[in-house]
Amino acid sequence: MQKVIKDKGISLTIVLSVILAFAGCVGGQLGQNNSNEYRKGMVVSASEDASLVGIDILKKGGNAIDAAVAVQFALAVVYPNAGNIGGGGFLVYRSAEGEVNTLDFREKAGFRASRDMYLDPDGNPVIDKSLFGHLAVGVPGSVAGMVAAHQKYGKLKWGDLLEPAIVLAKSGFKITARQARELNGLKERFITYNPNGTALVKDREWLEGDILVQSELANTLELIRDKGMAGFYSGPVADSLLAEMKRGKGILSADDLKSYKAIWRKPIIGDYKGFKVITMPPPSSGGIALIQLLKCVEPYPLKQWGLNSDSTVQLMVEAERRVYADRATHLGDPDFYDVPQEQLLSNAYIEERMAGFNWAHATPSANIKAGTFKVAEHEETTHFSIVDKAGNAVSVTTTLNGSYGSAVIVKGAGFLLNNEMDDFSVKPGSPNMYGLVGGEANAIMPAKRMLSSMTPTIIEKNGELFMVVGTPGGSTIITSVFQTVINVIEFDKNMQAAVDAKKFHHQWLPDTIYMEKGALDSLTVVKLKSKGYPVLERGAIGRVDAILKTRWGYYQGGADRRGDDKSIGW
Ligand code: DON
Repeated sequence: MQKVIKDKGISLTIVLSVILAFAGCVGGQLGQNNSNEYRKGMVVSASEDASLVGIDILKKGGNAIDAAVAVQFALAVVYPNAGNIGGGGFLVYRSAEGEVNTLDFREKAGFRASRDMYLDPDGNPVIDKSLFGHLAVGVPGSVAGMVAAHQKYGKLKWGDLLEPAIVLAKSGFKITARQARELNGLKERFITYNPNGTALVKDREWLEGDILVQSELANTLELIRDKGMAGFYSGPVADSLLAEMKRGKGILSADDLKSYKAIWRKPIIGDYKGFKVITMPPPSSGGIALIQLLKCVEPYPLKQWGLNSDSTVQLMVEAERRVYADRATHLGDPDFYDVPQEQLLSNAYIEERMAGFNWAHATPSANIKAGTFKVAEHEETTHFSIVDKAGNAVSVTTTLNGSYGSAVIVKGAGFLLNNEMDDFSVKPGSPNMYGLVGGEANAIMPAKRMLSSMTPTIIEKNGELFMVVGTPGGSTIITSVFQTVINVIEFDKNMQAAVDAKKFHHQWLPDTIYMEKGALDSLTVVKLKSKGYPVLERGAIGRVDAILKTRWGYYQGGADRRGDDKSIGW
């Protein structure tokens, strides 16, 4: 690996051109556009460098979990806006034999967190406090998550999985044009929260192709390589994190770090027309919401209506409205709040929820105050999907929450801290950065995990692996995964086409259908508006990275062109 990365300039180009040529040829043979298909395994992630790291681990005999660990650490280096060691996430696993499991490495509130910590004396939310700077930070879970995943299922040596990320941090990597734009755009924020300097700020503008070297991060990764949990949650890295907290008046303590544990949880499993959907339970809302959405639309002939037709959109929107209303009220950290999971997923409940749906008119969203909300278009989380030679599959969504999280980079340790505290319901009924509202179930409590929308998912067909899927996108995660699954199962899209298809989104509040430019044709928009559906255009929705197993046993990649994402197979 080290060699591949060190000689990256040359080997990446050669490897990639061979891969791309081969992909084009295979796709052509099977009569499928722009899809790449491979037999032995595949990695799809937000970064070409990270996908190469993952495929290299697979080729060395690592399994999907080994590759996931290596990709997670590589993304912390080459995709710092969302890849992370200072954030958290969720992992869904399915072994080749059909064993399923999920891992919760979500951040949690510090012991000193309190319900009203982001409210001013008049009880109003102070938005920036939960979004930027030290107070926005939840206890990071990613390192604990990777250690737990590796201990349970990993095959290669832990240290070997960290090595590629260390090399990328030490020697640097070439930033993309998109990354240069983002880093330049955030320069002032980085300076505000990191007055002592950081590798992410340059004395001139960043340019595409500039090499980003992160020496402090490399040292931190070496400590994690050598000491595992103790390399991050105690010792010099923890000391730097606590010093950073002190400097910026954050509240995380040594106890918070020492007590952090990743948790294996029973997957949410649902059925859609014979496909078995294996997905993430709370504290993510994603799994329950995805199964609810699928069940809501299952009785209807979507295939006959067609992709993004007015009937399809109306039905999906009405399902989304109801499911997001449930999310706001009923979902939170199951260790703190009794989530009525069975009721939410029961067929009788879903039938009752859809019973009020009327084809003639939009159902107005319930009358909870929506607050002033603008859809954020620079949402940043990242998802990767991996399948190995044996057929084990891993679906991981991981995040700092906003792009580059809290913008705080731990001085001396070189990694970004999350702003995940904003995913709590800071005040009942007040929208968070994604416009999501919540109540008691997701109120802040010490050591509680904040509710998530992340929806890493694996789907089986006839007892065999069928799809590995997930995406970033804040509140749009659930609807993006929903549409991608429907695009394949109902509309017979191949994986890349399902990812490329334009999306729309409704989340109950605000009571609006958001659509990507061109997602719905003008006649469809007119029809929907006449029935009382406000429709607004917005930027990209989701950034799905997914794998489909074709009926011939090939893995087909879907890497989202809304970003610099890359699927690589072998
Ligand atoms: O856990 C959540 O639902 C959010 N923190 C995810 C944020 C996100 O997807 C931002 N990305 N694009």
